[in-house]
Amino acid sequence: MLPGDPAPLRQLGPYRIVRRLGAGGMAEVHLARRFGASGWEKEVAIKVLRAEHRGHAELERLLIAEAHLGARFAHPGLVQVHDLGLASGTYYVCMDYVDGGDLRALLRRRPLPRPLALYIGEQLALALAYVHRLGDEKGRPLGLVHRDVSPGNVLLSRSGAVKLSDFGIAKATAAEDRTWGRLRKGKYAYMAPEQIIGAELAGTADIFSLGITLHELLLGRHPFEAATSAQPSRAAGEDGPLAMMEAIRRASLPPDHDFADLTPGLCTLLRRTLARDPRERLGSAALLARELAEERRSLSAAGLLELSAWVGAAAGHPSAEAATTGSVNDDPAPETVGMDDSVADLSADLSADLSADLSADREDPEHQR
Ligand SMILES: Nc1ncnc2c1ncn2[C@@H]1O[C@H](COP(=O)(O)OP(=O)(O)O)[C@@H](O)[C@H]1O
Ligand SMILES: [Mg+2]
Repeated sequence: MLPGDPAPLRQLGPYRIVRRLGAGGMAEVHLARRFGASGWEKEVAIKVLRAEHRGHAELERLLIAEAHLGARFAHPGLVQVHDLGLASGTYYVCMDYVDGGDLRALLRRRPLPRPLALYIGEQLALALAYVHRLGDEKGRPLGLVHRDVSPGNVLLSRSGAVKLSDFGIAKATAAEDRTWGRLRKGKYAYMAPEQIIGAELAGTADIFSLGITLHELLLGRHPFEAATSAQPSRAAGEDGPLAMMEAIRRASLPPDHDFADLTPGLCTLLRRTLARDPRERLGSAALLARELAEERRSLSAAGLLELSAWVGAAAGHPSAEAATTGSVNDDPAPETVGMDDSVADLSADLSADLSADLSADREDPEHQR
């Protein structure tokens, strides 16, 4: 700990903090224990705003909204939220602890076999199908969009469960949406083109983000990295947020895009998830889940058991993991656009002409593939 750093959290309400599990642009998540009668105890995950953001009213509202949303969810592909608490002025969300780690951290440790990439993609598509269809008490559709589907927000358990997490900026596609839409929060390298320009979003934006994630899982590279750099070996986003955002906004995959040795069916499927115009994109997450299941059938066995073995090998022994402070899941350079004013301002400037370009593109038959 550096001098001047805030004191580490030790206790929040009834939860004793054990260690930090990870952090993103907005929040940090800790492993914690709750104790009951007769030696009962349970491990949970506790999400709080990063120390520098605590007390920031707008971000607190996002965390509170995330907890409210989480309370509605009942799906195996989503993290169960148990409680929203307030202790010594700090809001915290208590949820299930997912003991394997996030996909971004695990991928740094072990390559992912393709059948498992398809399995993970299918589970995420099923979770998104549920989220996109979720309704209120009266069954009216909420029109929820996750807005931040990316490997850091996918949690894997040692038993092989896949959970889409971090609904911190999820939002209904209601009228109030415009305020948030303008902020264009989310991981820039995974944003849909319409999210980059601050247009209204539907579930199809999440399908685009899942398409980028899938492309990375299957091929080990970002689909638009070639458009941002002369050196295709560079990691996604290394040229900076603006270059990546610009590449995503402009690029439709060229006809000769290198899909390596993926099956023609998978190439077509990826193309359909990555269509620049949302109206030309694969229309629903349920359809994506079905098509991925179909693709997976022709490959070697890949399911819960196989994924469980992979997470065990990538995450290592649980006791070794607990011994390291400074989690592998920490996000050293938060990539959340909207937290970084300079990027937000620049992208706001870009937006106007980007918007115009997009509509011009729509009218241009060259781009109608
Ligand atoms: N329920 C959980 N169980 C285990 N680890 C978690 C859990 N929730 C989050 N994490 C870890 O904490 C990191 C940050 O959490 P996240 O909710 O994505 O915060 P942010 O909104 O700041 O991105 C994740 O990338 C993951 O590594
Ligand atoms: Mg996150």
